[in-house]
Amino acid sequence: MNPRHADADALFADHLDIQLSRYFEAMESCHHDALVIAAGAAAMHFLDDMPVSFKPNPHFRLLTPLDPAEGSSIVLRPGRQPVLLHLRPRDFWHLPPEPAAGSWTAGFEIREFSSPEALQQARDDLIRGANAAAFIDPAAPVPVSLLAHLDYGRARKTPYEIACLAQANRRAAKGHRAARDAFRAGAPEFAIHMAYLAASSQEDADLPYGNIIALNEHAAVLHYQHRQRELPPGGGRSFLIDAGATERGYAADVTRTYSAEPGPFADLISALDTAQRDLVAGMVAGMDFVELHRAAHLAVGRILIDAGIAKGDADSLLESGVTGTFLPHGLGHLIGVQTHDVGGRLADAEGSLRPPPESFPALRLTRTLTEDVVVTIEPGLYFIPMLLEELRRSGEAGRIDWSTVNALIPFGGIRIEDNVQVTASGSVNLTRPALAAEGLA
Ligand code: GLY
Ligand code: MN
Ligand code: MN
Repeated sequence: MNPRHADADALFADHLDIQLSRYFEAMESCHHDALVIAAGAAAMHFLDDMPVSFKPNPHFRLLTPLDPAEGSSIVLRPGRQPVLLHLRPRDFWHLPPEPAAGSWTAGFEIREFSSPEALQQARDDLIRGANAAAFIDPAAPVPVSLLAHLDYGRARKTPYEIACLAQANRRAAKGHRAARDAFRAGAPEFAIHMAYLAASSQEDADLPYGNIIALNEHAAVLHYQHRQRELPPGGGRSFLIDAGATERGYAADVTRTYSAEPGPFADLISALDTAQRDLVAGMVAGMDFVELHRAAHLAVGRILIDAGIAKGDADSLLESGVTGTFLPHGLGHLIGVQTHDVGGRLADAEGSLRPPPESFPALRLTRTLTEDVVVTIEPGLYFIPMLLEELRRSGEAGRIDWSTVNALIPFGGIRIEDNVQVTASGSVNLTRPALAAEGLA
């Protein structure tokens, strides 16, 4: 096993050192001598006393795996040990959190509070005397320039983070196997979803994003959000599953597509799988992600030509926007404590932006890849009726074999998505070994 995937616990102390040096450097650049990072509190549904499921402030999560974290805060002051203000409310309605435990706690001075008011008082005391305190707190204004520094830097993952991401992928892989088996056994979307949750030992609130469990035409809906209780008439022809897992707050984001029978759709899946592997194999630090995205479009163009779906050459299919009909989303995004980790369009730590080219408006990642950045690589090839209709009415319609397209629309579409660490000499795929261990690829 890659030694960098060693047990995350043993890697946390170094992770905290690296993170603290990033936070202190960013604070110095932005002239802050104190920083409060609040985990936040669960929001309530409108006019209701039921909470929305809670996720802590990602900056809180970058510094500690404390869970549950609601109401707690971290206070950073240069030259001092970080202070974790841990809220353990006196509450007979809910089970209060246990005291913070585990080797990671060694990096903090931990103080416990039984009320939010007492915690707030301690927060105020800790930053008293600071000239310019900043707050990364859902209840405070956003410190824009400090966040730009932090968000730019956090694209580079520490060995602890890589270990968490790899572990999240292993958890997701267990769910993917059960889901694939359930599809093959003829289960409807809802039952496949439940099989995924059970096998990956997660409930819905644990998922990094709502599972996309799509049979047939539903696979053409990029973020399909429902789970049909019943099997569609004729059963499942195709199955796209985009489902992840979390480990200590770090996300896996994994997609696979299956065909019930051999045939043209199954051939397209294997062609896209080969293209995805080639894209990953070509990755290396120093590469411009916009160019990799362009390479994905060219690969999709070649697949369309080889399958008899489109005529011409891949370059002109890209330039004329035809490949965009079949691949309307970005090739990938940063991933970490957020599924779509922020900072993907930052050109520097000062917050300058590098927008995507006009032809690729959905691209979330426009940065040059650097060592230890972790990204998703998720090319797709879909038959989306709304977009196909536009193509059919355009000047490019004559380049398309519509009878082949019409025969493929009932299968929806394909996406293959892995999570990949960029290295100085290439890349490490965090997803494929996890899937292979479950008998998938
Ligand atoms: N699962 C959302 C995405 O792939 O970006
Ligand atoms: Mn993704
Ligand atoms: Mn995904």
